[in-house]
Amino acid sequence: MVVLGAGPAGLVLANLLHGSGVDCVVLERAGRAHVQTRARAGFLAANTVRILDRHGLAEGLRRRGREHGACEFRTDDGRFCLEYGSLGRGEPHTVYPQQELVTDLLTRYVNAGGRIRFEAEAVAVLGADTSRPAVTVREPDGRTVRWQARYVAGCDGRRGAARASLPPGAVRHHRLDHGVSWLGLLVEAPPSLDAVGYAVHPRGFAGHMARTRDITRYYLQCERDSPADAWSQERIWEELELRMRAARYGPLHRGPIVQRGVVDLDSDVLEPLRHGALLLAGDAASVISPSAAKGANLAVLEAEMLADALADDLVRGDGEGLDRYSARCLTHIWRAQDFSRWMIQLLHEPSGPDGDSSFHHSLRRSRIEALRTSRSQQDWFAENYVGV
Ligand code: APR
Repeated sequence: MVVLGAGPAGLVLANLLHGSGVDCVVLERAGRAHVQTRARAGFLAANTVRILDRHGLAEGLRRRGREHGACEFRTDDGRFCLEYGSLGRGEPHTVYPQQELVTDLLTRYVNAGGRIRFEAEAVAVLGADTSRPAVTVREPDGRTVRWQARYVAGCDGRRGAARASLPPGAVRHHRLDHGVSWLGLLVEAPPSLDAVGYAVHPRGFAGHMARTRDITRYYLQCERDSPADAWSQERIWEELELRMRAARYGPLHRGPIVQRGVVDLDSDVLEPLRHGALLLAGDAASVISPSAAKGANLAVLEAEMLADALADDLVRGDGEGLDRYSARCLTHIWRAQDFSRWMIQLLHEPSGPDGDSSFHHSLRRSRIEALRTSRSQQDWFAENYVGV
């Protein structure tokens, strides 16, 4: 079994396969230090924690993760806090930076004797429609080698070799550009609110998400194609404080901006998630915009489903689970995509020729008001916000 990519999808899969006695190797393009320090998502759904717990992979997040169950909306109409952790199914998030989760998963896999090659970039998956697929890999010394396996799991993200190796027409590619861009910022400063903050402002959306006691993520809606370094630190803080209405609700804890980048919010889904012996999971299967923090949670869920199906096939000779893998995952993927799209519409003015914006503006205001006042809306929100 060859697993491409050592992100959450690839590492959960590799841990579970190794635990089931399946012979596997992980091939990762980046070096170990890079993989363990790459700051990305950080909000783990209750179901993700249950999956990791079930397989003994949750020790670190149980110790160092923090439960989080509130989000605050700020608009021209005022502010309100949704205690989503006690609404819906009554489940909070666990905030645990993704690089720490990846480090835990990697350490656990390597200590258990799992095989992994760093700086080994998969170039192409060959013969996916046969029972002996192969992966060509560029080694650190520039040599190209070939790994052969019964199955290849493509967990190497949206720009990896798995997607690139799919022959034209082999799978359907659903895409949606949400027409919105965010300047994502990682700041060395404590969180400014006890909650996730969503500020809806005529100048655009601003977001606040705690990561650790000393690190906070902020987002600013920005122009498409605006270069991340065009924003001075001063302008960033002014804009954040304006949109978060700091003059009214209290100042933000400022600190050095240690990472920044512009993300265009777009989503896609491949269907099916299988081409013969090549199976896709995580971002390789579906990219989801970060508006509802679902990406890493879907990746873990899919990895568990894929590991079960592969173990059934490879250990017990039962291929039925693999036949159902794609359809089972897609049910969860589409539901998450739907909620993430709903969040985008809740938080942003539509840009481009999308009808009368005063109409959209009023619809959005009405949605936020429903969220503030209707218990059934709040329960629905909580269930979808934390669930996968
Ligand atoms: N060969 C080998 N490895 C590769 C290749 C390649 N050609 N291309 C990419 N990779 C590696 C990347 O270096 C990365 O370590 O694949 C890994 C993919 O990991 P992630 O991008 O974290 O993707 P995934 O495991 O699917 O997790 C998805 O996590 O951070 C969230 O929001 C993110 O939704 C995303 C989720």
